[in-house]
Amino acid sequence: MRRIGVLTSGGDGPGLNPCIRAVTRRALGYGLEVMGIERGYAGLMEGEMIQLDARAVGGIIGKGGTFLGTTRAPEFKTVQGQREALRNLNKHNIEGLVVIGGNGSLTGALALHQHGFPVVGVPATIDNDVPGTGMAVGVDTALNTVLGAIDRIRDTASSHQRAFLIEVMGRNCGYLALMGGVAGGAEMVLIPEVETTLEEVAQGLLDAYIRGKAHCIIVVAEGYKPGCQAIVDYLNERREELGFQVRLTVLGHTQRGGSPSAFDRLLATRLGAAAVAELHNGHYGQMVGIKGREVVTTPLEEVASSTIELDLDLYNLAKEMEK
Ligand code: ADP
Ligand code: F6P
Repeated sequence: MRRIGVLTSGGDGPGLNPCIRAVTRRALGYGLEVMGIERGYAGLMEGEMIQLDARAVGGIIGKGGTFLGTTRAPEFKTVQGQREALRNLNKHNIEGLVVIGGNGSLTGALALHQHGFPVVGVPATIDNDVPGTGMAVGVDTALNTVLGAIDRIRDTASSHQRAFLIEVMGRNCGYLALMGGVAGGAEMVLIPEVETTLEEVAQGLLDAYIRGKAHCIIVVAEGYKPGCQAIVDYLNERREELGFQVRLTVLGHTQRGGSPSAFDRLLATRLGAAAVAELHNGHYGQMVGIKGREVVTTPLEEVASSTIELDLDLYNLAKEMEK
């Protein structure tokens, strides 16, 4: 193998830049050339790429986002799109590829692997919903962003004796909301993995009021049904009996930006370097991940065909701490 490519795909998050840096520098150390593919699979299908040397990835370890750009590229799900990608990889003499992204991107990587192209994946998504790794790149920084927001909102909530719903990203996964809720000392956490009725939410609010709390912080995963607005409407209808006024803050894409934390920089650097090592050693079709303190590999087939189970002990811990 003489030349490899690297791309970032899907929803961005903090840690992508340090990961590209690690891929590049490990590959250069092996004597490989590195092509940075721009705009994820869209750029791969269009043949948009730049050669990366050690200087090209200098000074980016602390920068959020991805300097290569990223996209959601639905055409890549088609065999035609994948053929275009393979054509460009061949045209540019790229013999191996590192794909950095979430579940969708890693499923795309599996498609390339199934076409016989050497590929290794790195899990990167703030949702932490990728099987085969305890943490994905970006999760830790996003969690700290959520935590900062909870702390600030609690200040104003207490001043006004209000209840706040704080909507947290995560697609269908409640990880970020649950961890944010536990670390942020929330009065309630609503996640898609655990059914909670609107009546139960109202009761939680009332309980917090009766216990004499000055605020009630409810962290809501975006995947929780029926969603934040339905909760606000329901609680407002019962405003008089519940004690607290209710406000809603949607953290949205603030969770995706920002300088990567120390944890994310380290994880991104370890996994980026490990992905190139796998390619170099001929271990294709794998995703690198972290289990405890160790870097581990999982076949992309397994990553794409399984789902993660949220640790409900942590949900029970959150409930225990609500008092
Ligand atoms: P993430 O990687 O963050 O989960 P998406 O689910 O949007 O984000 O996926 C990113 C991109 O990965 C998609 O736009 C598409 O190009 C590619 N992708 C997703 N699912 C598949 C699939 N089943 N087959 C091939 N490519 C896919
Ligand atoms: O997968 C990352 C994520 O931020 C999810 O948490 C969220 O549901 C989604 O992406 C938002 O996507 P977009 O950036 O396309 O609005």
